[in-house]
Amino acid sequence: MNILILGGGGREHSLAWAVKQNPKCDRLIVAPGNAGIAEIAWVAPDLDIEDGEAVVQFAEDNSVDFVIVGPEAPLATGVSDDLRAAGFLTFGPSRAAAQLEASKAFTKEVCDAARAPTAAWARFTDAASAKAHIAHNGAPIVVKADGLAAGKGVIVAMTEGEATAAIDDMFSGQFGDAGAEVVIEEFMTGEEASFFVLCDGTTALPIGTAQDHKRVGEGDTGPNTGGMGAYSPAPVLSDGVAERALREIVEPTLAEMARRGTPYFGVLYVGLMIENGAPRLVEYNVRFGDPECQVLMMRLGGQALDLMQAAAEGRLSETAVHWADDHAMTVVLAARGYPGAYEKGSAIRGLEALPEDSSNMVFHAGTREIDGQITASGGRVLNVTTRGATLAEARDRAYAMIDAIDWPEGFCRRDIGWRVLG
Ligand code: AMP
Ligand code: GLY
Repeated sequence: MNILILGGGGREHSLAWAVKQNPKCDRLIVAPGNAGIAEIAWVAPDLDIEDGEAVVQFAEDNSVDFVIVGPEAPLATGVSDDLRAAGFLTFGPSRAAAQLEASKAFTKEVCDAARAPTAAWARFTDAASAKAHIAHNGAPIVVKADGLAAGKGVIVAMTEGEATAAIDDMFSGQFGDAGAEVVIEEFMTGEEASFFVLCDGTTALPIGTAQDHKRVGEGDTGPNTGGMGAYSPAPVLSDGVAERALREIVEPTLAEMARRGTPYFGVLYVGLMIENGAPRLVEYNVRFGDPECQVLMMRLGGQALDLMQAAAEGRLSETAVHWADDHAMTVVLAARGYPGAYEKGSAIRGLEALPEDSSNMVFHAGTREIDGQITASGGRVLNVTTRGATLAEARDRAYAMIDAIDWPEGFCRRDIGWRVLG
């Protein structure tokens, strides 16, 4: 089977690594890929992965049998629709179904129709009525730009002043079109965790749980990032809570999406708030999380290909996940300054000496090879990912690898997993 993976971050490196372990995988191509991915797959750095026609042409030219779409941007532009229309087996939702991530108001409407537990909400297209709603409900309260805003469109306001300032920012165009409509939500309390489910239009198959660390600083302080580390499983998402989330949130959502004529295919990233054993939906993403994917792939290994193929072919009801009773952790090495301004181009040394096996992997998130030297080319640069019989064992492996990497321009959080490990 010739496989094309779209994307070029740590998520796609881990997908490529897992897929490659499956004997079914013949040729593996990743577009655009990165320097780490180039060590295990053929990369196509010049393909515009948001251009459906170009991707279809590329898949035809390269006799691709199966396409796995990593990031949300090509899903939002309908690349998976173009691929499926051209007859390619594709893992990733349609443009219509990707609205579950692209529009917060859409997701809330679907939840209401599905009677899925989530925060109470209202939508606004003008500042005056949004502010009246805030004055009426008081703080804390959550203000969200409706559209995709690169993870920056959510303000959890602890005071009414913060909330009204967020309204002004959004309607002044700070988030572009994403902020033309605003969703205001009830503030939920509890512990957050992520639940990953494969979907084939009707059946939902859980493939793991994770928790990430969004803040840049130790002790969960400082500005939000795309994620500084993650681990799997998430203890708060016990089997019982997962079962409730599946029955009360995921399955009714899939049924509602099918009823609307836009069945959901692919992976659904279910962001949950859990309080007293009861899960409520915070958000959906229509792709694997980054870096959550890295810990899931570390635990699933080569079966990930069979599972994604079964989802794309509508065979999940006859498919099982084989779990080891293990734990995985990923620690993000980022460029100093991230999530603010940072330098590109610094050299990263010491990677060659590190182990690369089913318990220790360095996935590349933002790297380029320049004259034979691996260099940093992004904010989040490496994802040191490990597995162990316990989370403590995985953690010790991860930080031992990090200590062997020579990259003075980088930094990481030293407390990934603190909720579990103390
Ligand atoms: P989202 O992009 O919708 O996941 O929001 C980003 C983060 O904001 C979430 O991971 C939560 O930490 C927080 N958040 C979003 N909505 C709520 C809510 N209704 N109540 C409390 N926190 C929230
Ligand atoms: N790590 C959060 C995300 O991928 O959205």
